[in-house]
Amino acid sequence: MTTETTYREMVDNKNGRMNRKIIVNEEIYKQELEQIFGRCWLWVGHEGQIPKSNDFTSIYMGEDPVLVTRDAKGKVHSFLNMCRHRGNRICRADAGNAPSFMCTYHGWTFATDGKLVGVPGYKEAYFEELDRSQWGLVEARVDTYKGLIFATWDNSAPSLLDYLGNMAWHMDLSFDRTAGGVDLLPGAHKWMMEMNWKWPTDNHVGDGYHVPITHGSIRGRGTSSGTASGGGLNPANAQLQNRDAFAFGNGHGAASISPSRGSVWSADSENPVNKFNREHEAEIKQRLGERAKWQPGTCAIFPNLVISNPAWSGSIKLFLPRGPLWTLGWSYYFVDKQAPKEYRDTIRTYQTLMHGPSGIMEADDAVPFIQATGTARGLIAQKYMINQQLGLGHERIHEEIPAMAAPSPSEIGQRGYYGFWAEMMDAPSWSQGKLTPRKN
Ligand code: FES
Ligand SMILES: [Fe+2]
Repeated sequence: MTTETTYREMVDNKNGRMNRKIIVNEEIYKQELEQIFGRCWLWVGHEGQIPKSNDFTSIYMGEDPVLVTRDAKGKVHSFLNMCRHRGNRICRADAGNAPSFMCTYHGWTFATDGKLVGVPGYKEAYFEELDRSQWGLVEARVDTYKGLIFATWDNSAPSLLDYLGNMAWHMDLSFDRTAGGVDLLPGAHKWMMEMNWKWPTDNHVGDGYHVPITHGSIRGRGTSSGTASGGGLNPANAQLQNRDAFAFGNGHGAASISPSRGSVWSADSENPVNKFNREHEAEIKQRLGERAKWQPGTCAIFPNLVISNPAWSGSIKLFLPRGPLWTLGWSYYFVDKQAPKEYRDTIRTYQTLMHGPSGIMEADDAVPFIQATGTARGLIAQKYMINQQLGLGHERIHEEIPAMAAPSPSEIGQRGYYGFWAEMMDAPSWSQGKLTPRKN
């Protein structure tokens, strides 16, 4: 690093203070691309997006465009979306099905398993001397958890399961509660925001504190999903009491998890979400066992994946870095695979109303994220530390959930997030980075 201190010193969790430079500094940003996005497991999609052989979908790992494919034999890959010749992208489509990708510059062609299978002029111009086996697509290591696909560029990274650690306990509440797991609804919202990529993740990893203030207008007027049945999110229940905030280790955290599965939706029994939950109660209990009583909360998986989940079916948001001052948001919505059309429509309507570029919640949140990025650029501002003392010293090992907990609201999640960020930024290799062991 370029500063005189370690990143661990910049993130002073003992005193709940953090150096503001980590938000805007160019050199630190370059290190993040290398140390965080070059080494961590990053979310790249869901298996349901590529169910058939030769299906593909496009996304990014950090700033790098990647193509996620299912090859002819059914294996899932994540490739750098870059022709090995000059570097043109080999695919410009968001998603589709194709047995191969022909680069539109000189025509090199790659199969869905990454092999270079076609080179114009191979005999006449390359004289059969080009070793095609050495010029296949650059491939990341891939693994899946409950249908979610993750990839890492670092072959020495720990297993995905070890990386997710105790967060897997919480992910199951959303992604493994009914047979078949979840589906992503088609399409994604994509939008650019003038903010550092860490702010939206910081918010979801543990900021129950902002909800009554930032989202005060929503709470004030009540919230409706706008469904024909009138069933919407019940603001009275949305702020269930006696909740804790959680740090799961490895930078993952949840702003709150409710100790009851009391519906956050209105009591309208005809609401398709309530109806589905009622009909599948026995199945959910059978699959999750003791865990079935917990209602999952809005959470973040290090470094930039957010699962915003007020009612089991929620949004998966990815906050992609575009320099220290810009962030590209991608928002998908998920429902149980078994969910009927009415359920899907309810979630689509609700999520579009709340999240993504036109979402009320998203717009509420974006303003402070933009402003907190802007102020951090100031010379004077950088002399003053960010305060992260909320709930400091009131953490405990949770009695049932495999995580550290503190009464919500607490910045326990943020301290865990930036603590792991600093760990990764300082550690020269994975062998010297510390992972929290999995308890279950
Ligand atoms: S850049 Fe792709 S074939 Fe030349
Ligand atoms: Fe918010």
